[in-house]
Amino acid sequence: KKGSYDHFMQKEIHEQPHSLTTTMRGRLKDSGVLLGGLKEHIKTIRRSRRVVFIGCGTSYNAALAARPFMEELTGIPVTMEVASDLLDRQGPIYREDTAVFVSQSGETADTLLALDYALENGALCVGITNTVGSTLSRRTHCGVHINAGCEIGVASTKAYTSQIVAMAMLALAVGSDQISTQARREAIISGLSSLPSNASEVLKLDAEMKELASSLIDSESLLVFGRGYNYATALEGALKVKEVALMHSEGMLAGEMKHGPLALVDENLPIIVIATRDACFSKQQSVIQQLLSRKGRLIVMCSEGDASAVCPSGSCRVIEVPDVADCLQPVINIIPLQLLAYHLTVLRGFDVDQPRNLAKSVTTQ
Ligand code: UD1
Ligand code: M6R
Repeated sequence: KKGSYDHFMQKEIHEQPHSLTTTMRGRLKDSGVLLGGLKEHIKTIRRSRRVVFIGCGTSYNAALAARPFMEELTGIPVTMEVASDLLDRQGPIYREDTAVFVSQSGETADTLLALDYALENGALCVGITNTVGSTLSRRTHCGVHINAGCEIGVASTKAYTSQIVAMAMLALAVGSDQISTQARREAIISGLSSLPSNASEVLKLDAEMKELASSLIDSESLLVFGRGYNYATALEGALKVKEVALMHSEGMLAGEMKHGPLALVDENLPIIVIATRDACFSKQQSVIQQLLSRKGRLIVMCSEGDASAVCPSGSCRVIEVPDVADCLQPVINIIPLQLLAYHLTVLRGFDVDQPRNLAKSVTTQ
């Protein structure tokens, strides 16, 4: 079943041009998006006072990547909940809320308990899942199957990118009554249709990521700084590295750098800074300068052709990725980090598809 690949994680990373295509198949139209499962609920979602995204691990990170465009395209405030934390706090959920549950398996215990809780509180419950017939799919009022195909590696890769794309389509559908964002929506739809070929392009970085991994095998820790659309990329890149390569890694909001993390910076600690083109670009340029002035060991992810713009001194290692619609950039930016985590794991001699102590589906609390 792995075909020409050594591991499922590797196969699933390389499958993304295809899985992104199947996620969008039949749903993307020139005039907008068509999500069969949501047709009857779109108006209710539009009227909701708040959207609450709920998930665990990678699925939470996918929702975090979706938050900025969900807010932008719908104007509805979006809050984020890690399922276990919502349950621990018994946080407020109201009838006027739309609660969006994100889960690859559709069987994660905390996510399902949070779903029961939101149902009891009268919220409209929407599922985003890869598993037709899963408990999540059955118990939610409506939802979107991401159709990424079966994911076997414990580390979620293709489901993450398909979840973001499914939520982009959700945001486009909910926001489709807003005239002021029509041009923006059209640009995002066109960006979505190019994503599979952008994903093929970025996968060509495989050998470069293997080389980068070999320079990091003995590191004890790896920091990843992102902000805006790519805060989620930082968290998800770090989660992949810690979960499979068994290396400490921390994703951080670059805007928080001076509020603590800067104290860690020295010439040894590798730091990945995500600085692709978007409204936060100049802020990331200044973060890079500040890290370099503390002799930070930087690996900068930037848009193609931007190497000298992000690192004029030439003292950083640069990963250049294809430029896509700013809000969709997280779909492309995570791919080199998935490849990095994969190669780091193989080079460090750990089990890629079955990391120590972890299960694919966490069905107990
Ligand atoms: C559906 C069919 C698809 C077919 C297409 C043709 C299924 C599973 N999907 O896809 O095979 O090609 O019509 O038009 O038969 N749902 C939830 N919670 C979730 C996920 C989904 O309640 O977490 C519900 C949806 O609201 C919907 C149903 O499940 O009622 C199917 O969802 P989805 O597969 O996303 O719908 P379509 O894309 O229309
Ligand atoms: O099946 P789910 O999406 O609900 O799973 C949630 C998490 O357990 C899962 O994403 C976990 O963090 C992965 N192993 C990450 O790669």
